Amino acid sequence: MKVLLATEKPFAKVAVDDIRKVIEAAGYEMTLLEKYAEKAQLLDAVKDANAIIIRSDIIDKEVFEAAPNLKIVVRAGAGYDNVDLTAATEHGVCVMNTPGQNSNAVAELVFGMFVFAVRNFFNGTSGTELKGKKLGIHAYGNVGRNVARVAKGFGMEVYAYDAFCPNEAMEADGVKPVASAEELYSTCSLISLHLPATAETKNSINFELLSKMPKNAVLVNTARKEVINESELIKLMDERNDFKYVTDIMPAAHMKFVELFPTRYFSTPKKMGAQTAEANINAGIAAAEQIVSFFETGSEKFRVNK
Ligand code: 3PG
Repeated sequence: MKVLLATEKPFAKVAVDDIRKVIEAAGYEMTLLEKYAEKAQLLDAVKDANAIIIRSDIIDKEVFEAAPNLKIVVRAGAGYDNVDLTAATEHGVCVMNTPGQNSNAVAELVFGMFVFAVRNFFNGTSGTELKGKKLGIHAYGNVGRNVARVAKGFGMEVYAYDAFCPNEAMEADGVKPVASAEELYSTCSLISLHLPATAETKNSINFELLSKMPKNAVLVNTARKEVINESELIKLMDERNDFKYVTDIMPAAHMKFVELFPTRYFSTPKKMGAQTAEANINAGIAAAEQIVSFFETGSEKFRVNK
């Protein structure tokens, strides 16, 4: 079996070594394509692959067409909006993710971003504290749960909205469930986004919703840029000089945000929520083990396509 580890944004070396160990212990062969600059390199590397491990790498129709022996793609991470699931199914390829494996890393970054924002981007002026503030978690999945856990350590009041998560699950974590996104945004001055990018969520964080946030609002986005309606966020930040936006996914209109809101906007240069050795090891090993189980036992646990 040939397993390709294709990561435009490389894993920590220690994680790559661990992934290789799992693959080779099964008697499989691993090839590595890191930091590739051209899609052509990916198309060439997939030619003889039976399995591929990826991160946010784009796996579209063209990639499936270039990989006649491919049986499985594992996204070492949570979101799989970068994989064309319909094309995968058409080519008889199983797609999986590794849910939960990088959640703590993302949750820790969320608090780095909140502290950075409420301390005025570390510019030396007097800021505010997180203790006692109302935090709203928008979508209560693996990352949302970790955010709630850490928020309690900060002494925050934690609220969450998730149409698919039962209230009891939130209450068991000491989180107050609210009935709608509108209620979450009107209650909390600090909001952390954990929505996947889907047809329903794209552009859903809009002017109307954000304008409900109380004074000194901070929006932290470690989810996906697509969930934000960028032009409406710009309009809102233009109208409200108490509103800050800190994101781990650079908006399409990044330069405009920088130009208009130099003291209230920050984006990491490259998504780094899951960029820790621990998250890389957890997600990478899980991906490798899922591939081995798939070939050895037929297990399709964490399959995400039909
Ligand atoms: C995820 O969906 O798991 C996170 O967004 C991390 O993505 P990355 O592996 O590209 O850093």
